[in-house]
Amino acid sequence: MKNFNVRLLALALLALGAWGCQPAPGESGSAAASEAPVLDTAQYKKQGMDIALTTFGVLSGQLKQAMQAGGVAHAATYCNTAAYPLVDSMSVVYGAQIRRVSQKLRNPADAPNEREAAMLAAYHERKAAGGKLGPEVRQLENGEVAFYAPILTQELCLKCHGDLGGALAESDYETIKTLYPEDEAIGYAAGDLRGMWSITFPAPGTKQ
Ligand code: HEC
Repeated sequence: MKNFNVRLLALALLALGAWGCQPAPGESGSAAASEAPVLDTAQYKKQGMDIALTTFGVLSGQLKQAMQAGGVAHAATYCNTAAYPLVDSMSVVYGAQIRRVSQKLRNPADAPNEREAAMLAAYHERKAAGGKLGPEVRQLENGEVAFYAPILTQELCLKCHGDLGGALAESDYETIKTLYPEDEAIGYAAGDLRGMWSITFPAPGTKQ
């Protein structure tokens, strides 16, 4: 029922032409738009949110368990080996490429590509201007469908991403630094924009 309402609301917004923000540069696809079937944006938005929330749930569940079992340093080490395979396995389950990207990286493999960087910058600008951040869907030039959603920092995250010497203990950060010598992902406060989900679906009508 809740999902149904969300879809209805999204459809209503579409009908009003009040949809989302400007397309990222080079992604408007306006030339092809007249021939291509209309993208079911609401459907992709729902699917993307489902995937992001499920992946987040699995990741943070594992993280909490690891923190309880062996403290922050142990959990960071666990995250170092488990986060990637876990997200990758979710990609296989859903038949979509799932990534987490950020402007301040812990794992260099999470660096945004050009289109991700453009959307991430737009989220940061909107946040700085006090705007609301929500999921966005874009069709790429190759037909694939990109889903984006903001990742906000929560209280729980600060033990590994907060202020050094504050929520993030110096001794825990030593462990993190040995795993990620170029880490930049600290100094966050609760509510800050930590990064963004980037989920890429195959072009509609194609199989992976
Ligand atoms: C126990 C320590 C720990 C906690 C708590 C933690 N993280 Fe992380 N975080 C990490 C590690 C380690 C990585 C790198 C994972 C990897 O190598 O794939 C990471 C990576 C990330 C990334 C990917 C981008 C990047 O910088 O590589 C995001 C986004 C992120 N964390 C958000 C969060 C959020 C949001 C929370 C709270 C809900 C959180 N983290 C809590 C340790 C932690």
